[in-house]
Amino acid sequence: MRQYLVAGNWKSNGNTESNAALIGGLKSTAIGDNVEVLVCPPILYISAVQAETADTAIEVGAQNCSATQEGAYTGEVTSAMLADAGLKWVIIGHSERRTLFGETDEVVAAKVKEAVAAGVKPIICIGETLEERETGQAEAVCLRQMDAVLATNAPSADWVIAYEPVWAIGTGKTASSADAQEMHGALRRYLREKAGDVAEDMRILYGGSVKPGNAAELFGQEDIDGALVGGASLKAEDFAGIIAAANA
Ligand code: PGA
Repeated sequence: MRQYLVAGNWKSNGNTESNAALIGGLKSTAIGDNVEVLVCPPILYISAVQAETADTAIEVGAQNCSATQEGAYTGEVTSAMLADAGLKWVIIGHSERRTLFGETDEVVAAKVKEAVAAGVKPIICIGETLEERETGQAEAVCLRQMDAVLATNAPSADWVIAYEPVWAIGTGKTASSADAQEMHGALRRYLREKAGDVAEDMRILYGGSVKPGNAAELFGQEDIDGALVGGASLKAEDFAGIIAAANA
């Protein structure tokens, strides 16, 4: 049975004080046996958030990693450094990385390779734009993004896939639970074809305007194994509400 994963992507938000308040507000949140909770702060605040979550079940991850190993790559943080800092998770290929920072499918695949080599579990983000959905290409785009990763990486039960339709990120629009399930089901079938039984253990998260009010219905779908949450992960009450929906 797959454990739910509720992951908060804080993006470029927060500061020392607000981060501490956010973690403080989450401390009393019950986390069920079948739920894993992760927060991904900006890299500079990772160690402070690790200290603040030390006596909780909340895990800490990174939002990005380098496609390279150590060397003369100004500004980059390698996966080995993330592992050295005690991190077990990294988000890779978020649509903002792809669209705003030019990350190609190949770069995403290279980052997955580096993360896995360092022992850091990747949360691999895929998803179509509105135009791609409206022209009937949603599934093909997601499978192409998946294929690029599969071309150079051996699939593993430690992989987490985050299906995040680009048009639903930060827009308040969520895919209907039926549409999300349809894509998650298609992804699972595809992963089964490519990876066999390991696909049953891979978690596929939904991302895009997940809130306490829609989380339960999404989590009730057969192939939705949790959420990658942006905006609502910045408010303790909202993130706690999403965790509660996974606990149920
Ligand atoms: P959102 O972001 O929840 O604010 O839509 C999701 C994400 O970007 O992972």
